[in-house]
Amino acid sequence: MKATITLHREFSIGQADRRLYGSFIEHLGRAVYNGIYEPGHPQADDKGFRKDVLKLVRELDVPIVRYPGGNFVSGYNWEDGIGPVDKRPVRQDLAWMTLEPNKVGVNEFAEWCKRAKSDVMYAVNLGSRGADAARNIVEYCNFPKGTYWSDLRRKHGVKNPHNIKLWCLGNEMDGPWQICRRTAREYGRVAAEAAKVMKWTDESIELVVCGSSNARMPTFGSWEAEVLDHTWEHADYLSLHTYFGNADGDTPNFLGRSLEMDAFIKSVAGICDYIKAKKHSKKQVYLSFDEWNVWFHSHNQDKKMEKWLEAPPILEDIYTMEDALVVGCMLITLLKNADRVKIACLAQLVNVIAPIMTETGGGAWRQSIYYPFMHASAYGRGTVLSGPVKSGKYDSKEYSEIPYLETVSVLNEEKNKLTIFAVNRNLKESLDLEANLYDMGNLKLIEHITLNNKDLKAANSAKGEKVKPELISGAKLENSNGKARLEARLPPASWNVLRFSL
Ligand code: AHR
Repeated sequence: MKATITLHREFSIGQADRRLYGSFIEHLGRAVYNGIYEPGHPQADDKGFRKDVLKLVRELDVPIVRYPGGNFVSGYNWEDGIGPVDKRPVRQDLAWMTLEPNKVGVNEFAEWCKRAKSDVMYAVNLGSRGADAARNIVEYCNFPKGTYWSDLRRKHGVKNPHNIKLWCLGNEMDGPWQICRRTAREYGRVAAEAAKVMKWTDESIELVVCGSSNARMPTFGSWEAEVLDHTWEHADYLSLHTYFGNADGDTPNFLGRSLEMDAFIKSVAGICDYIKAKKHSKKQVYLSFDEWNVWFHSHNQDKKMEKWLEAPPILEDIYTMEDALVVGCMLITLLKNADRVKIACLAQLVNVIAPIMTETGGGAWRQSIYYPFMHASAYGRGTVLSGPVKSGKYDSKEYSEIPYLETVSVLNEEKNKLTIFAVNRNLKESLDLEANLYDMGNLKLIEHITLNNKDLKAANSAKGEKVKPELISGAKLENSNGKARLEARLPPASWNVLRFSL
């Protein structure tokens, strides 16, 4: 099977915002406790953070980490997580029916982020709480000194403000599972007022308002329009969330799901444009895809989990080769929409539907999905290029005209590098890729990395990696008269990274 792509330096979609490679840590399962934080572990640092986990997080180069939820945040009192640890309350977490010991709060998490070389993206509680708690935490975190909350932070040993720039106004407020769910009008109003006083507290912050929990919500579309109508003046970004699964084992259909993600992004961008037109506004509200991943493996076992445990092993999906392909297609989709999507968070980062897993008291290891994320984060920074793609297509149960080749390219002008990301969705046949690359100067092929395994259900574990990238040879590159022509063979069901120097 053959496929062709044509690229030119001018075929630019826009700059890939570095925050596209964000992630997410929620107070959920073993993400915080026995994930990033495990005092007493042989790898624990002076603050109880696992150094082996930090090393893997830094390897992913994650610029922002959303925190502390997720569903958890809608019942969270942020004040429970500050001050002397031995005085902090243990609370019931009604989002996940677990116990929250509050040993980690905003100060500890901000410190962890520093060590991970990430910035905090903080979500405030607009479920059980509102504008007052929201503006207080902005003051606690960002005001230098001389007020009640900023001086309290200093009393807690944090002299300099955290300067958290990015704030989420609640989480999935349309969902019936949410603690204190709201209608679009209720949420729109509280989000607008919280946003107003948060920006009065610190005018430099940026705010994300909640879109629908996913595109299949019955109020999808009208929710976005009504919420934006209320919050337009204050909103910088509108959130999107999506999780995909393959519970029925229909892999060709599963691999097509990124088409749904693409349609979702385009619809939400259209709604932003509609409200912009309606308000005769010049402002642009961008998109924050702040939860995305594959999530389905752990659903059944989690239903059997005992309630009111501290850090139970829930949402611990073990990811397979085919999950890594879907994650690869989702990353390509985010890049293809880089003109509208400025923030994205792989949900989540450690133990909970995560690329990084830990054994309590033991080692840390990389899941299959770790690798496409790592490659995109490392090589997907710069100008996103997308040109005409000729590829065979197939239909599946839910989608039609799914191209066998999913691809996007990124030109890093600072480093003089070009990277082609490509997924071959064909489960049986290799794809002979021809890429015609114009106006790039003389190109040199650095490497062709591939991730593939004949067993699509192969997964990594603490014992070893069955799904890991390897270099393959055979790709040919010819330069002539300002045009380069690449020929490369993409193995069946594979994620590929073709890297060139300019
Ligand atoms: O990431 C897991 C959960 O998925 C989050 O808490 C919630 O926002 C979403 O439903």
